[in-house]
Amino acid sequence: MTATDTIRVELGARAYDVRIADGLIDRAGAEVAPLLRRKRVAIVTDETVGALHLARLQAALSASGIDSAALALPPGEATKAWPQFQTCVEWLLDQKVERKDLVIAFGGGVIGDLVGFAASVLRRGVGFVQIPTSLLAQVDSSVGGKTGINAPQGKNLIGAFHQPGLVLADIGLLGTLTPRDFLSGYGEVVKYGLLGDEAFFEWLETNGPALAQGDVAARQYAVRRSVEMKAEIVARDETEEGDRALLNLGHTFCHALEKATGYGDRLLHGEGVAIGCGLAFELSQRLGLCSQEAPSRVRAHLRAMGMKVDLSDIPGELPSAEVLLDLMGQDKKVIDGKLRFILARGIGQSFVASDVPADVVLAVLRDAF
Ligand code: GLY
Repeated sequence: MTATDTIRVELGARAYDVRIADGLIDRAGAEVAPLLRRKRVAIVTDETVGALHLARLQAALSASGIDSAALALPPGEATKAWPQFQTCVEWLLDQKVERKDLVIAFGGGVIGDLVGFAASVLRRGVGFVQIPTSLLAQVDSSVGGKTGINAPQGKNLIGAFHQPGLVLADIGLLGTLTPRDFLSGYGEVVKYGLLGDEAFFEWLETNGPALAQGDVAARQYAVRRSVEMKAEIVARDETEEGDRALLNLGHTFCHALEKATGYGDRLLHGEGVAIGCGLAFELSQRLGLCSQEAPSRVRAHLRAMGMKVDLSDIPGELPSAEVLLDLMGQDKKVIDGKLRFILARGIGQSFVASDVPADVVLAVLRDAF
């Protein structure tokens, strides 16, 4: 096991730790025990993660005398909807989970979001622990308390802010991700450098390839730095009244592309974020906010990592630039009908812009094909 990094999410009475280490799952019992009133937890996972890692988690809990029951839901984005949400809530009730009990969300972003939301409504709110198993979940979705499910009208439209009591990010679990899933999560890692820390982006330019190839120390540093940045922003603005929106760098473009591609295998969320970050820098440059060097550098790094950069890298037909712009207008972050973007004055210098001219966005999209 590597030395554990601990990052505190400073939210007053709801503050909690994010712990990061290789092999941390084997300490899950000792980590979770102080949060329990009785030595019993309910774990919700997906079938893929469950087959790979559930026995190890349950053994670690048993070693600390903690009994556990587990539910494995089908893997994939389609799980994040009412039917599986109902299955999850009713299973937790069948397990007789009480107000002071703890639910463990053990999986990637889909499981973390769905189980966190289930915990937020079960008996008007029970505690939960995130044990994120994907890079995307470790650096982003497990931290900050956004929980929810998708609606036919759009992604994440039903949900609640419900902070976990603890997050355990085991870097070793990233070893079983497919290279594509790993790189998709890496899109969110790059986002942190781009939005607020040029030195971190430079570090990624140097260390990204080693990190992708499995360098554990590099992975731990990248997760730690990402979580530090997220924790700091969430502590400043828990419910996204202001600065938390910076975490949506690249996401307005991404959400339109995800909608156009059906939220499936054609474009993974982190892939869309990476493409979206490149487009957000291109848009910033066209608006005269940053030099041409900035978008070129973003694109060069994504290319060097073997990631999708241009719209033509997405397999299959895409709708026209005009239709994509229209899809952006349906993004839930639109306020008073104006397009809100996260733009940048340079790498690491992002800000919220709430009135971006649609014709410039359209020109960026047309040139991205
Ligand atoms: N993933 C963006 C946020 O947590 O605010």
